[in-house]
Formats: sequence, C-alpha cells, structure tokens
Amino acid sequence: MIRFDILTLFPEMFTGILSSSILKRAIEKKQIEVNLIDFREFSTNKHHTVDDYAYGGGAGMLISVEPIHLALKTIPNLDNAHVILTSPIGKTFNQETAKAYSEKEHIVIICGHYEGIDDRIHHYIDEEVSIGDYVLTGGETPAMIIVDAVSRLVDGVISSDSIKDETFNNNLLEYPQYTRPAIYDGHAVPDVLISGHHAKIEEFKKYESIKRTYKYRPDLLEKANLSKEELKMLEAIKNEENN
Ligand code: ADE
Repeated sequence: MIRFDILTLFPEMFTGILSSSILKRAIEKKQIEVNLIDFREFSTNKHHTVDDYAYGGGAGMLISVEPIHLALKTIPNLDNAHVILTSPIGKTFNQETAKAYSEKEHIVIICGHYEGIDDRIHHYIDEEVSIGDYVLTGGETPAMIIVDAVSRLVDGVISSDSIKDETFNNNLLEYPQYTRPAIYDGHAVPDVLISGHHAKIEEFKKYESIKRTYKYRPDLLEKANLSKEELKMLEAIKNEENN
C-alpha cells in the first residue's frame, strides 16, 4: 500500500485518471490511496487568493508559500513522507525513479504552477521532479504521470509478468509483439513466434529488444549491462546494418 497526497489548485483534473482502469482498481483494492488536497482552502485572506506580486518586480504573480505549508501540516505522519515538487528544473523522472518511489509508503506531490512558487517552498520539500525537458502549464499532468508510473509497480497492481519484460528493464526497450491474425493485410508475424520452439523464441525476443534499443535509443544501450551473449547479438546487429 502506498499513499499519495497531492496538493493542487485543480483537484478536478485528476478525476478521469483516478476513476478509470488500473488506478481505479488499485484504489478499490486498497493497493494505493490518493488524497487530493486543494490548497486554496488554506488561503488566509478573505478572497481565497493564493498568489501575490513578486518582490523586486517582474512579470506575473507567484504562489505564496503559506497555503502550501498549512496544507502540508494537515497531512498525518508528514515526517516519514517523501515530499516532491513538480517543476521543469527538477531531476528528470524515469523508470528508475518510479521503481524507487514504488518502494516508499507515502509520497506527497505539490503541483507547481506556471506562475512559479515562492522559493522558500524549498524548506518544505525533499526534491523537485521534472517529467521532461519541456514546460507545462502546471504540475497536475506531471503528478498524474508520477502516480501512474509508480502505482503500476506497487505489488499486485498489475501482474509481475508484465513488469518483468517491459521497456527500460536493464535499459532495453521491449521486443515487438504480435497477436492474431498471423497474416494481416499481407503483413505476416515473424515465423519464429509461431514455431513453438521456446529457446528460439527467447533468442528472438532478446535480439529484437537489443536491435530496437540500438535503433531508437542508443543512449540507453550504453547504460545496459549486456551479457557476453547479448554483446555478440549487438555485434551481429551492427554488422547486419553495415551490409
Ligand atoms: N511543470 C511545468 N513543466 C513541468 C515539467 N516538465 N515537469 C514537471 N513539472 C512541470
């Protein structure tokens, strides 16, 4: 069981993802818990605003630290939680981060906002996390991505078989897969997959996984821990390309 608390000004944005498909089932089965906290409710001024002008001038407004801090203080056992702020300047989230987070019991995500946040927020967070090198209007979609990627790695949420072979395990992309019919519109499924020859099928999957990674993500291949046999496959793939 992993608990997420999400601090956001737009809790309604999460309705779709939390009420559909795998995350919905994970919540029902109490494998994950997701609490949405609208930190506007913690504004101490009568108009319920949460932003203000920046000291020193500059365009736009900034989110004040107070409503976020007050909202954080209502979360039970906060000292044992991992508190993150979504921000394009954070460390880039990847499958390794998702795996590490899935082993935690409690994650708090503060959704940043295009306006920016008073920098003193750093006294109340453990780290800033970006989901990639582009700028979004707010931290809600990043928070959804983090909850999704982490939740599917929580025990029991999806079958462990699905996780075993998937893309990014050992920094390799997943091999291509096919379902019926065996020939569609003249395009046939590779013969070996229909052969019933188990060892050959495993070899095909490994070879294709390395080939795909070499083609699409050579940067990952450099980080992959290839066995002797896999390195031989990589050599063969490179030769195949040169001929
Ligand atoms: N907020 C705006 N852009 C973002 C990004 N790329 N990652 C995380 N939070 C963000």
